[in-house]
Amino acid sequence: MPVVDLSQTNSLVSQYLSEIRDIDIQKDRHRFRKNMERCGEILAYEISKQLPYKKIDVTTPLGTAHVSVLKEQPVVGAILRAGVILHQGMLHFFDHADNAFISAYRKHRQDGSFEIALEYLSCPSLDGRVLILADPMLATGKSMVTTLKEIYRHGKPAHTHIACVIAARPGIEWVTGHLPDVSIWACAIDEELNAHSYIVPGLGDAGDLSYGEKMQR
Ligand code: URA
Repeated sequence: MPVVDLSQTNSLVSQYLSEIRDIDIQKDRHRFRKNMERCGEILAYEISKQLPYKKIDVTTPLGTAHVSVLKEQPVVGAILRAGVILHQGMLHFFDHADNAFISAYRKHRQDGSFEIALEYLSCPSLDGRVLILADPMLATGKSMVTTLKEIYRHGKPAHTHIACVIAARPGIEWVTGHLPDVSIWACAIDEELNAHSYIVPGLGDAGDLSYGEKMQR
């Protein structure tokens, strides 16, 4: 299934991403969130080109227009907490979508290693639906695979699109190796992870930059 890197085509998404990555500009939390939202809007628009459509007739003041509309609304999901702002941007475009929320986080052990902990899930039945899951930073891909396997216990989507701001090459390989049917959409792809599994050059911690530092590590 496709891996789409929007930065391969020059567009405004690269401008927004340059501000999101910039160590000085990203300190402006409002601007950071705004740019993440914009990435969500653009990802939604690009993904919308791949969804099924049907023809309908719309009555205008002057006649009848034959137009294409989405055959069915997708389910747009967010992985808490960093996915919330990207999800919000996607909802600006998929404004009638159903929604899913899941908490997946890195639960650190004393030795610095971590496991992926899932604690909350709320979603409609996913059987036969298109699922679009917003997770701004696809790093190791392990939380994404754990999350999707949990979500699939609540129905098998017709197709799953993963929407990221930055995807790391190792994370893409992990996800496509374990879930070959998903599509991955990224505003940019970075090659490396550091020893703490952060994306390099990446942007830092997307959740902290959006909402402030947390006590829990
Ligand atoms: N989560 C983030 O916020 N940043 C990374 O680089 C990796 C995971």
